[in-house]
Amino acid sequence: MALLTWNDRYSVGDPAVDHEHRELIDLINQVHAELQTAGPGAAEAKFGDLYRGISAHFALEEKQMRAARYPEYAAHKADHESLLDEIRDMMEEGAASDEELSRRLDAWFSRHFATFDARLHKKIGHGHG
Ligand SMILES: [Fe+2]
Ligand SMILES: [Fe+2]
Repeated sequence: MALLTWNDRYSVGDPAVDHEHRELIDLINQVHAELQTAGPGAAEAKFGDLYRGISAHFALEEKQMRAARYPEYAAHKADHESLLDEIRDMMEEGAASDEELSRRLDAWFSRHFATFDARLHKKIGHGHG
């Protein structure tokens, strides 16, 4: 069972950006599946993929914001950092229930995509790279 499923409220209204966001959700689900079937030791590599995938996505957005001298850059970046903290907690604690994890992550994705990312992509238009 996937931890997170794509939801229309995640959409920022730009298919290319939505596609990238779906990939991030897939990476989370892969870690989750690995934890359930193979256990914490074996999930480490998937966690690495997840962390790199999300970091790369955030780095790209932050680069676009700097290039556009985007006024909301600092707050947007801070919200990215809060998800990376959440994921590090997930990696270290490993003890949170599925419901708790899916609730925390879903809350972040719903809120971040609908607010920070929707505003950003409306302003700077297409193209995650
Ligand atoms: Fe994004
Ligand atoms: Fe973002």
